[in-house]
Amino acid sequence: MRETKRWNINTDDGAIKEAAALLKQGKTVAFPTETVYGLGADATSQQAVSGIFQAKGRPEDNPLIAHVATKDQLRELVTDLPPLAETLIDAFTPGPLTMILPSNGICATNVTAGLSTIGVRIPDHPVAHKLLKTCGIPIAAPSANISGKPSPTTANHVWADLHGKIDGLVDGGPTGVGVESTVVDCTQDLPVILRPGGITKEQIEQVTGAVMVDPALAGSPDKPKAPGMKYTHYAPEVPMWLVEGSPEKIQAVINRAQKEHKQVGVMASNQTAEKLQADQMISLGGNMQEIAANLYDVLREFKNGDTDLILCETFPTENIGQAVMNRLEKAASEYMKE
Ligand code: TXA
Ligand code: MG
Repeated sequence: MRETKRWNINTDDGAIKEAAALLKQGKTVAFPTETVYGLGADATSQQAVSGIFQAKGRPEDNPLIAHVATKDQLRELVTDLPPLAETLIDAFTPGPLTMILPSNGICATNVTAGLSTIGVRIPDHPVAHKLLKTCGIPIAAPSANISGKPSPTTANHVWADLHGKIDGLVDGGPTGVGVESTVVDCTQDLPVILRPGGITKEQIEQVTGAVMVDPALAGSPDKPKAPGMKYTHYAPEVPMWLVEGSPEKIQAVINRAQKEHKQVGVMASNQTAEKLQADQMISLGGNMQEIAANLYDVLREFKNGDTDLILCETFPTENIGQAVMNRLEKAASEYMKE
């Protein structure tokens, strides 16, 4: 166990300065971004970055995203900024977009897991921005959760998973978007979405025209091009089933499980939740933005002992719904389709 220093951004004046100093010394510090909390370390130091893999229990073949404050800093990490990347940067950064570009080797080899490409992103969050500006170095940062668990959208989620394993945590309140950045391969003529996220396919199409999606995301047996997409992810403490169909159909599944003496928890939109009766009911929100923002918190709310089975409704895969359904499918142990 090590001591994890925790700062509150609203009350600790020295928070950013102290956190930046720790990062420059090669330590691990968690901080908020607009998507989820990240666990940061100096991306140019192999040793600092290995601290991230250790704390999370993350497989070493899964590369990390390098976070920077400005486009000029981003340029320093890649051999080339193709016109496609320039277009995406102008349209969507700072923001929840990660671009895969040819790496020039400035970042440590464990950041890229030995690949010739690197994922880079400019987060749109005042705390992340100030921290990156103050340390002046690229910061490698995966989501600040134990590998396999839901990503953290509050400082308490990070604390629950990682206190005693990391050196610092900057509490900047709940994050906004709630699902991670969209990972886009920019090394080819057309953009290829490797992980759906905060910037939607529809938004990208508006600035680039055609957009491709990694076939592995649509269920093809090919290996996903983002190594992280092959792992089980976002798993709640208790099994979760996705149930497609009307509230009546979901209620029938609830009733059946209750007959088998299961305590059934339900996560659903406000509108659907109103129509259902279960042992535990947690509303995700009234629209898809709210549902994305609350998703990981709700997945963490259901605890062993209180709930035996979680049921969740499905959502349309337009806009942010694509990222929401991608995460739910990974979190679910069963998918009951119509
Ligand atoms: O919103 C986010 O992106 C958050 C915040 C903290 O910035 N970060 C995040 O990082 O979600 P992580 O490590 O949990 O997910 C990074 C994803 C993984 O699926 C990884 O395989 C993929 O990006 N990735 C990173 N570098 C890559 C590369 N060079 N080629 C292909 N995929 C890459
Ligand atoms: Mg993650």
